[in-house]
Amino acid sequence: MTAVGIDAVEIWTGKLKLDLPETFAPQKGDDPAKYTKGLGLRASSFPDAYEDIVTMASNAAYKLMERKGLEPDDIGRIDVATESAFDNSKPVSTYVAGCLEEVYDEDFHHANKGERKFACIAGTQSIDDAYNWIKAGRNRGRGALVIATDTALYARGDAGEATQGAGAVAMYITEDPSLVELSHAQGYGSADETDFLKPNQQFPSVDGKRSVQVYLSRMREALEDYESVAGDVELDGFEYAPFHTPFPGMVRKAALLAYRHVVRDTEHEDALADEIGRQPRPGEFEDDDAYQEAIREYMDALGDTEQYQDWYAEVIDPTLSISREVGNWYTGSVHIARMSALLEAAEEGTEMAGETLLVGSYGSGAQAEIHAETVADGWKDEIEACDIYDQIEDRYDISFSEYEQVHDRHNHEKRVELEPFTQPEGEFVFDGWGPMNERK
Ligand code: CAA
Repeated sequence: MTAVGIDAVEIWTGKLKLDLPETFAPQKGDDPAKYTKGLGLRASSFPDAYEDIVTMASNAAYKLMERKGLEPDDIGRIDVATESAFDNSKPVSTYVAGCLEEVYDEDFHHANKGERKFACIAGTQSIDDAYNWIKAGRNRGRGALVIATDTALYARGDAGEATQGAGAVAMYITEDPSLVELSHAQGYGSADETDFLKPNQQFPSVDGKRSVQVYLSRMREALEDYESVAGDVELDGFEYAPFHTPFPGMVRKAALLAYRHVVRDTEHEDALADEIGRQPRPGEFEDDDAYQEAIREYMDALGDTEQYQDWYAEVIDPTLSISREVGNWYTGSVHIARMSALLEAAEEGTEMAGETLLVGSYGSGAQAEIHAETVADGWKDEIEACDIYDQIEDRYDISFSEYEQVHDRHNHEKRVELEPFTQPEGEFVFDGWGPMNERK
């Protein structure tokens, strides 16, 4: 069977940086450690005055097409995943195609275009759509351009303000991919939830604490569902586990949950038994409350073990390096987690071809998906072409009052005029509001 997966990736970060411990925390009267240690974030990326979801997506896509020598005729579909769309009818992919058509001689009339919405999981769902389209033999030799693009902004004063971010990830999905091959098996956990939503509004209504619990519940269900089709996940069966990362502290919780699940009834649980006992089983308790309390105590003890911490340092921590510097990119978040891990592997000289990634995607509302990916032979060339850390380094560091101006600039109800802090260099720029807004 022909392998289908991600052939190439380009990442585009918003060009502004808000330093969370230095700039944001003091203004909020917070201990900087809440950000660096609690949430696990050092900075957020923001779009400059001339950037938006379309320009970031188009710039990432153009970079990818140029690097891979692609022409519009090579691309049979353009799917944009976003939860920051500004148009309820015309998909963001048509705006992106319009930008790209400015610089190529050909157009994209032959390409199927769409917009995927299911909060942050929509990027993975678009990849799934592309996979199915290719596997069904409908692609006529063409690849799919999938772009996850978001400006993850919260109302000022909302607890989520600490976890904002902005950027785009363009991915080219093909047969015989260079970066990762997708597994056929998928597991889902899905429920009608209202902890995070944007009913015709730009900024989310969010019950942050509950959203954390919903993430964990759906992820546990997805893991169980995945095992029902792919067999039990083995602790040694994957090198990295990139998860949706609204902030690294969230993944710290999800990783502990996944670890407890995976080691249960294995020699890894036996190895821990002398130190922290065996995992509580429901039948051992009078009622569910007592069982849940025992689980909480076991999890606390598990998180402190050397066995768990070593695993976390090797398998999870490398997935969080980009996120720590850019914040939440919603649909792009799990895709920068994958890149983060592979960048670290390349840096350390680890050979990843043939190794497995266990990928956990999540979207509020809510749905989680677990699937596996096999790293492809061409991974290293792809990863070495990734310049995200240079982009992160080059961002303009905004003060708190500049942050407020930038937030007001991108607030659809305010849309204040703002002189940019950086200069665009040979890129698509946003040049005005309204239905006929121009990007050039
Ligand atoms: N030193 C060390 N740690 C500290 C600290 C200090 N001085 N002060 C606080 N902390 C820790 C806290 O203990 C907490 O860690 P634990 O959860 O592990 O206990 C962490 O820092 C955050 O502190 P708070 O819980 O007090 O922070 P908060 O109440 O202001 O907000 C939040 C946290 C609810 C996650 C908020 O940022 C939020 O609403 N975020 C948006 C929603 C979100 O991202 N939800 C995630 C799941 S939903 C999802 O994944 C979809 C998506 O992308 C949005």
